[in-house]
Amino acid sequence: MTNGKGQVTFVSGFSKKTKAEKLDWISQQFHNPSQALEVLHKYNHNDQALQTLHDEFIENALTNFYMPLGVAPNFIINGKTLTIPMAIEESSVVAAASNAAKFWSTKGGFNATIIGTEKVGHVHFMYHGDTQKLNIFFEQCRAVLLASTDEITRNMRSRGGGITALSLVNKSDAIPDYYQLDVRFETQDAMGANFINSCLEQLGTTLKALAAKHADFSEKEKAIEVVMSILSNYVPNCMVEAVVSCPVNELLANPKDSSLFADKFVQAVNIAAVEPFRAVTHNKGIMNGIDAVIMASGNDLRAVSAGIHAHAAASGQYQSISKAEIKDGVFKFSLSVPLALGTVGGLTKLHPLVCWCHELMGTPNAQELMQIVAVAGLAQNFAAVKSLVTTGIQQGHMKMHLLNILNQHQATEVEKKSAIAHFKDCNVSHHTVADFLAKLRSV
Ligand code: MEV
Repeated sequence: MTNGKGQVTFVSGFSKKTKAEKLDWISQQFHNPSQALEVLHKYNHNDQALQTLHDEFIENALTNFYMPLGVAPNFIINGKTLTIPMAIEESSVVAAASNAAKFWSTKGGFNATIIGTEKVGHVHFMYHGDTQKLNIFFEQCRAVLLASTDEITRNMRSRGGGITALSLVNKSDAIPDYYQLDVRFETQDAMGANFINSCLEQLGTTLKALAAKHADFSEKEKAIEVVMSILSNYVPNCMVEAVVSCPVNELLANPKDSSLFADKFVQAVNIAAVEPFRAVTHNKGIMNGIDAVIMASGNDLRAVSAGIHAHAAASGQYQSISKAEIKDGVFKFSLSVPLALGTVGGLTKLHPLVCWCHELMGTPNAQELMQIVAVAGLAQNFAAVKSLVTTGIQQGHMKMHLLNILNQHQATEVEKKSAIAHFKDCNVSHHTVADFLAKLRSV
């Protein structure tokens, strides 16, 4: 929005203003300030304590940005029935997850297995000198480096976590003089970003200090430059696998249809393994499920997405992250996905709706949450590919989108009711809905 001259005005010290001053300033950037303010007020919570909690999550908070929270019931995961919370705005996602849950509930449900829980981070540094001398220095200093993090790791160690490995990596082939401290972590039920970054920053500081007084180093070698110390959101050793399988002839009511369906399904997944254009959309379908649960569970959507796409591209070509096969008459569909999640820390114990979602899921620990999220991704992928290779995606998608189109046309509740009845057996599109409403309104 603009100040009416096609440009937002410049403001200094915005973050220092009170919330009322911020609202006043921002509303002046709109053609109709009172209307702009009213929209923000509408989304502000009446419960002042709850609003303050949200305002304090970020800087310059003006109001809340709502997202629907839905649930997909009837998931069977490792033999246990579960209702999965999903925070997402896309019309058909929760319906698709629910359909997939119901479909597999009569075929043994979903199985999920933790492959690993290792997190990773690096101290990226420059060392100008003899690599062999750096190797010797590192081996001599390893214990002191680790000991320098003792204060930070104490609590985590008492919970069974901490630093699990520390190594020196020579990256000078890629960039002259570039080396890393590669650090592996176990963070139990915490996602661990703050813990990992604190450890890494301490390791970087200790590394620099030890190098500066290392007798065998020349002046140049003593001057290690720490470029940055940061966790990686690429966590290939923090993996979970979700699987569904059943005899091919039990997939659909008719065994002949089942066999055709299974073949086509496997072909579709194989296409996503070799064709990046399809792989991106295929994985987007998986992310529909994953993101919605990540959001509902108060975890970091951006971290998870970045890591998953890195995993999808790990072979050098972007590929599907799910696999389908038919072996000895059994259809198997699986998803392996890196997920660094937490069930303590961050928003998980702070955001009332997030707490509600955790309770709905049976207060999972981090590994159980990884399993639930992976299953949601696999379910979503199954529902999408099933539609794609049978009816096509639009039929189900547009049915679910009908209410959005009706709302765009400001349909009344009565109009919505007759539209829903009418479009039960008709194609939904923007123009068929517009025509239907025009006809309805003309009588
Ligand atoms: C739409 O949100 C997701 C799909 O495009 C996924 C897919 O094509 O597999 C339907």
